[in-house]
Amino acid sequence: MHQNQIASITGIGSYLPSKKLTNHDLEKIVDTTDDWILQRTGIRERRIVENGVATSDLAAHASLKAIENAGISAEEIDMIITSTITPDYLFPSTSCCLQKQIGATRASAFDISAACSGFVYALSIGQSFVNSGAAKTVLVVGSECLSKIVDYTDRTTCVLFGDGAGAVVVQNNPEKHQILDTRLVSDGSHSDVLIIHGGGSKHPASPDSIQQRLHYIQFRGKEVFKLAINNITNLVIETAQKNGFDVQDIDLIIPHQSNLRIIEATMEKLNLPMEKAFVNINKYGNTSSASVPIAIDEAQQEGRLKKGDLVMLVAFGGGLTWGSSVIKW
Ligand code: UT7
Repeated sequence: MHQNQIASITGIGSYLPSKKLTNHDLEKIVDTTDDWILQRTGIRERRIVENGVATSDLAAHASLKAIENAGISAEEIDMIITSTITPDYLFPSTSCCLQKQIGATRASAFDISAACSGFVYALSIGQSFVNSGAAKTVLVVGSECLSKIVDYTDRTTCVLFGDGAGAVVVQNNPEKHQILDTRLVSDGSHSDVLIIHGGGSKHPASPDSIQQRLHYIQFRGKEVFKLAINNITNLVIETAQKNGFDVQDIDLIIPHQSNLRIIEATMEKLNLPMEKAFVNINKYGNTSSASVPIAIDEAQQEGRLKKGDLVMLVAFGGGLTWGSSVIKW
């Protein structure tokens, strides 16, 4: 057993497809308005992949940037963990497709499924492997092509989601951005509030499942909305308590970008100013498990993360699942 390993983020990268789908574009597709979408969600536009582009393609772009940022080669990677709800295939894993694209020939590779919280879940696994000494270099990825599972005839969901990818390299390096703690929570009793019913073993793909549109995201927005605010707020408070600091000590919260109103309500409940939350939902919409790593990368590029800052990642999504991660920048 290795002692005193300190899992840290040593490289960060993200990738967004260039094609934009604006609220005004959506006005032409479904019965909605720019004003409704902006007021209710904070979203102005989202990015959408071209035909033929898959989740592993976005993941590869983001990963290569993270690898370069960490100053390593792909051959040094011991493990690839990708979080996605839009895998290239049901199997093999998107991580194996990604491994092939980036030439990480030594790595073991697998995916995890925890919907919008998935990046925090994957980071926790990477952190554990590095802290135990079982792996030296782990690539943790959140990548999604949500445009492929969104019903563009359903205005209640199609305005919310976009495509993108983010990746980090996790290694033992106390000089870098130390992952101090990660907390994961799940509540399967609400598994049906945010779901794709079709295409799995319960309702395998069939002409009937397609006709019933079971292969698209369905969710009960209002229920998810309330559960998200309460559970994220409680988790931030618990995480602070367990790690011996005050919520007010947090320098930046990097939340999953699902709805600006959820972020605002959570910050208000935590009695924190909005300046302490990183927000980019206006540009990308909800990119599920890609949203947190994309936000980390942008926060770093915008100079919002300074050495020694106390940073909290927090995410909430289908499952239900939620999770937090404390990072000393
Ligand atoms: O990432 C995983 C976690 N995801 C979330 O946390 C998302 C949580 N939920 C939400 O963000 C919000 O519930 C939504 C943004 C999805 C919806 O906002 P809302 O304020 O809860 O609206 P609502 O569903 O109560 O709908 C209000 C009205 C309805 O009309 P009536 O019944 O009041 O006449 C809807 O039919 O808005 C209507 N509506 C729309 N109108 C224009 C619903 N979608 C649209 C739309 N454009 N796109």
